[in-house]
Amino acid sequence: MIPYFCKTFFTILPFHHLKTHLTNPIFDIISQVADSRGVQAFVVGGFVRDLLLKRDNKKDIDVVVLGSGIDFALEVAEKSGSEIPVKFFKNFGTAMLNYHGWEVEFVGARKESYRSSSRKPIVENGTLEEDQNRRDFTINAMAINLTRDHYGEFLDPFDGQRDLNNKVIRTPLDPNITFSDDPLRMMRAIRFATQLNFIIEPVCFEAIKKNADRISIVSEERVTDELNLIIQAKLPSRGFRMLDDAGLLNLIFPSFCELKGVDTIEGKGHKDNFNHTLAVLDNVAAQTDDLWLRWAAILHDIAKPQTKKFIQGTGWTFHAHEFKGAKMVPRIFRDFRLPLNEKMRYVQKMVLLHLRPIALAEEGVTDSAIRRLLFEAGDDIDDLMLLCTADITSKNPVKVKRFIGNFELVREKLKEIEEKDKIRNWQPPISGELIMQTFGIRPSKQVGIIKDAITEAILEGDIPNEFEAAYQLMVKEGEKLGLKKKIS
Ligand code: CTP
Repeated sequence: MIPYFCKTFFTILPFHHLKTHLTNPIFDIISQVADSRGVQAFVVGGFVRDLLLKRDNKKDIDVVVLGSGIDFALEVAEKSGSEIPVKFFKNFGTAMLNYHGWEVEFVGARKESYRSSSRKPIVENGTLEEDQNRRDFTINAMAINLTRDHYGEFLDPFDGQRDLNNKVIRTPLDPNITFSDDPLRMMRAIRFATQLNFIIEPVCFEAIKKNADRISIVSEERVTDELNLIIQAKLPSRGFRMLDDAGLLNLIFPSFCELKGVDTIEGKGHKDNFNHTLAVLDNVAAQTDDLWLRWAAILHDIAKPQTKKFIQGTGWTFHAHEFKGAKMVPRIFRDFRLPLNEKMRYVQKMVLLHLRPIALAEEGVTDSAIRRLLFEAGDDIDDLMLLCTADITSKNPVKVKRFIGNFELVREKLKEIEEKDKIRNWQPPISGELIMQTFGIRPSKQVGIIKDAITEAILEGDIPNEFEAAYQLMVKEGEKLGLKKKIS
């Protein structure tokens, strides 16, 4: 249950100081253009919110003009000397220009209404009040006047400043209208609440629950953008729990919801993998901003529901969940429209290997096992160790102490073997090319068999990681396959 009122206050800029905070020269240029065209212009939305919060803005400025946004943008571009062409979105009547790395978007004040089957708005000209009305949250509906005579004047019709102070997400209109108009805003509400550590006003949260089904009309890419922002927050678990309480998580990420729950047989239960995964995610988030390592935390146990078994005398097992989990990653990435590239392969690798360091620690840290892990993890070994450490969520201090101690051992051994054998990102000293030349053969299964035998022997420590020893083994392995050396 999300508490209604959050007691923690924090200082925000007093509004009468806003003029002195419009330091970006673009505001002065906009003001001059507004003057010369005889129209009013305002900076609105995220820039104003972040200015008041003294928060870094992602270099986005939204400007509302009472008139044509496109013509206005063209004149600002000309005055600012920007060489980058203005981008137009004619259907929406918006134009965007780049000013020294800032994306400045211009739009004519509008009132919008939405069709029930789409989140694409029907746009009509409107007043500033109408424009503010149709925005998502009170904290995103604040504006600052850029018109010369009123420069710096703060326009906050829905008391967004109070909501910033009270840390509350609230909609300007009836939330059912705001969310039904644009269901992506349900994700945005939870995203802002997570990023800013705000609460969502209960009436607003109820409306999200009521309209949750309408998330289906939002494109997957937009949903994923918001989910990624939640994942990148300081405490992502809070966002996931809100998504879950609102009934959205089950719609956008059903396989994650399947991690929920505890089964008990013969008095033996297993841990709740939903809560465990969220704890791992927060642990990882405390150590790194890397989105993909955070995704690895989210997916590390994703196949536990499918692999769960109760074995008499042993208890609960999740045999091979790391293999099955790694296999599930491409499908999940495809569904979320996440990139199917090296980022995906990295997450797959993390899921596949996440049990290895702990198994190593438990079963004894041999040189060959460490070499194998280094070989498979390559440069991602440090990330893997971070994930595995984050995976320790046990409440039993004795267990935790044992795990941490074992990991220390694994870390020491990793360092020692790395210095000695240089296995990280290692290439076997004999190439496939050399095998083919030596035996006068074409690319074939035999080349792979010989190469694997050499790799295995080095990882096992049967031969040193050196050319001469590897060459001798190649000859021996070739002979076993009935091959004769053609060159010496
Ligand atoms: N907006 C809205 N409904 C949406 C998206 C945006 O009402 N679905 C309005 C809000 O007033 C918002 C502004 O458009 O402040 C700009 O949107 P956007 O750039 O997406 O978000 P920001 O508020 O700037 O936040 P952030 O920079 O964190 O994305």
